[in-house]
Parts: sequence; C-alpha cells; structure tokens
Amino acid sequence: MAQRFVLNETSYHGKGAIAEIANEVKGRGFKKCFVCSDPDLIKFNVTKKVTDILDNASIDYEIYSDIKANPTIENVQSGVSAFKASGADCIVAIGGGSSMDTAKAIGIIVKNPEFADVVSLEGVAPTKNKCVPIIAVPTTAGTAAEVTINYVITDAAKNRKMVCVDVHDIPVVAVVDPDMMSSIWICRILSKGVFI
Ligand SMILES: NC(=O)c1ccc[n+]([C@@H]2O[C@H](COP(=O)([O-])OP(=O)(O)OC[C@H]3O[C@@H](n4cnc5c(N)ncnc54)[C@H](O)[C@@H]3O)[C@@H](O)[C@H]2O)c1
Repeated sequence: MAQRFVLNETSYHGKGAIAEIANEVKGRGFKKCFVCSDPDLIKFNVTKKVTDILDNASIDYEIYSDIKANPTIENVQSGVSAFKASGADCIVAIGGGSSMDTAKAIGIIVKNPEFADVVSLEGVAPTKNKCVPIIAVPTTAGTAAEVTINYVITDAAKNRKMVCVDVHDIPVVAVVDPDMMSSIWICRILSKGVFI
C-alpha cells in the first residue's frame, strides 16, 4: 500500500527564524499581508514580534483578529470579507491551531468561493484551487497546523467541530521559532490561570 506525503515548500526552524518572514514575503513578490492572529496574542505582544519585522521591512499589512479558540464558521466568513476588503495577496497566520486553521479556511474560500458556506468544506472537499499563499508561524507546540493539510472549524449552532482535509490548504512557508512560544505559560497565567 502506498503512503502519501504532502509537504510544504519551505520550512524555517530555530531561534530568530521569524526574521526570514520579510525575505519570504518580498522574495515571493507579495505586496500586502493579511495577518491572522487572535486577540490574546495581540494583547500580549506575541503578534507584534512578527509585525515589527514587517514594519522594519516596510511591508504593508492588515491585522484580522476576530478569531476564537476553536474558531467558528462566523470567524471564517467575516475573515473572508476582511481579506477581500484588505487588498492583500498573502496571509501571515500567527498563533496556535485556531489562528492557522482560520487562515486556511479563509484562504481556501477566497480562491474557491463556491464553498463560502464553510460547512461544505467538511471532510474532503473537491476544491479546485490552491488557497491564498500562507506563511504560518505557530505560537503553540502541538497541532502542527503549519505543515498539515487539515483545518478544524466549529459549527457553533450544531455544537460540533468539522475536520476539513484539503491538500490545497497547506501553507507555503512554515516558520517555527521558539521565541514565538516562550511567552505561553506566563501569558496564560496572566489571562486565565490555566492553559488547555
Ligand atoms: N490543523 C490541524 O492539523 C490541527 C491539528 C490539531 C488541532 N487543531 C485545532 O487547533 C485548535 C487548537 O489550537 P492550539 O491548541 O494550538 O491553541 P489555540 O490556537 O486555540 O490557542 C489557545 C490559547 O492559547 C493562546 N496562545 C497561543 N500561543 C500563545 C503564546 N505563545 N503565548 C501566549 N498565549 C498563547 C491563544 O491566544 C489562545 O487564547 C483547535 O481548534 C483544534 O481543533 C488543528
């Protein structure tokens, strides 16, 4: 039986790796980034570690942060509208599985608008086009969403999670930098006392 391996184009690993994001954005000819990150990561200046790099490289970007832990259909749909309004041509996803999965769903729907209802993406959806190019920057260790072909969106009305599997959603670049994860314990203690 054959085993299938689906790999992303480029991965960076190591302390300071986020500095490469500016080179990747410019080298790929992207003009504006749609930064997907969640409210806590903005509050605790984790997202800022990357936006500082974009600022220093004079790269235009817009932040989208209407992303809950266990992101919902509504988070994705408002993200699609925000992406279209932004004029961006790539996504920089900064966060745990929730931010990266929201970015994947947004990127898929922008390029495959017939799936705008989100629910039709559950399982293995027959999308035709690759998603908007994503540079994924994990801030948690565990989901590996930066290199998987999966994303998980919650249907809040039905109180269930939809697992979506699609080779078209794999981020083009993964940037795994321990500095993006170093804040996690202190931030969780400050915000809720517990990290789950
Ligand atoms: N795509 C995949 O392959 C895949 C695999 C497994 C799970 N998932 C999905 O991923 C989601 C869970 O992702 P997760 O566990 O990475 O967490 P998460 O993205 O839901 O984040 C949880 C909380 O941790 C905070 N946080 C994240 N990084 C931080 C940091 N460096 N410092 C301080 N706070 C930080 C966030 O702000 C958030 O409040 C679920 O929706 C799950 O279904 C996806």
